[in-house]
Amino acid sequence: MKGRGLLGMLERANKLDRLTDPLSQRLQAVMKGRVRDALHGVWLGHPLHPTLVQVPVGAWVSAAVLDALPGMNRCATVLVGVGTASALPAMAAGWNDWSGLPAQPRRVGLVHALANGIGVGLYTASLIARLAGDQRMGRRLAYGGLGVASLGAYLGGHLTYRFAAAVNHAAPIEEQVPQGWHDLCELRALTQQQKMVAHIGDVPVLVARVGDRVTAMIEKCGHESGPLGEGEFVSMDGSECVVCPWHGSTFRLSDGTAVHGPATTDQPVLRTRIVNGCVQAALP
Ligand code: FES
Repeated sequence: MKGRGLLGMLERANKLDRLTDPLSQRLQAVMKGRVRDALHGVWLGHPLHPTLVQVPVGAWVSAAVLDALPGMNRCATVLVGVGTASALPAMAAGWNDWSGLPAQPRRVGLVHALANGIGVGLYTASLIARLAGDQRMGRRLAYGGLGVASLGAYLGGHLTYRFAAAVNHAAPIEEQVPQGWHDLCELRALTQQQKMVAHIGDVPVLVARVGDRVTAMIEKCGHESGPLGEGEFVSMDGSECVVCPWHGSTFRLSDGTAVHGPATTDQPVLRTRIVNGCVQAALP
């Protein structure tokens, strides 16, 4: 994938990998298990980082408006404080997501994080200046922080719209399934715990027999389109699950629930029925 202009140069700056590779490994070693899932937003069913950043962005933009009005110093100071405090969990969730990105978006993500880190630093200095009574300096530092954080936000948008970072990759594939019932395979070809990949048109579907049920799940992982057909089956909390071979997202076979991230959205599961020994599937 070749980008243009300054952003393209940043995407191709492979010298940054000397920094990003060990840093992402270190973060993955520190942020793991339930902490990692929580920071991805698995419990929320939605990526946590873009949800949390709404608070500092809203508070800081509102503070910038109040700073331009007379007699609003105290309100602006409160908003700068709220924005700066709420940026910290947003940053933790962002670093957690960043550590699992591929090389190109990770380079962009590093500059995104650095810009936002500088923005938080400027807002912290602004808060200190305001509390010390220097409103003029507080305003200047806050406007500087808003400028740098806006650059960070622009790069965050680039990560989403160019690299589809933290975007559900399974949804557009599911939409390609036509209405109605579709033949997948012969039931007798499926033994217990065995899986196979069938196709509805161009859409790959993971078909598995678990107990007395046959499940049919969109086979491209919602995280980054990894092949679930090559994933392992594991038993987790009494439920059969499939583990994505690329980054370990784990989905319950019966209903597609994301049990472990980095995927934060459930994997689409189709309805199934058996007709004359043939497994058929349809959209839910
Ligand atoms: S593609 Fe990343 S966990 Fe499946």
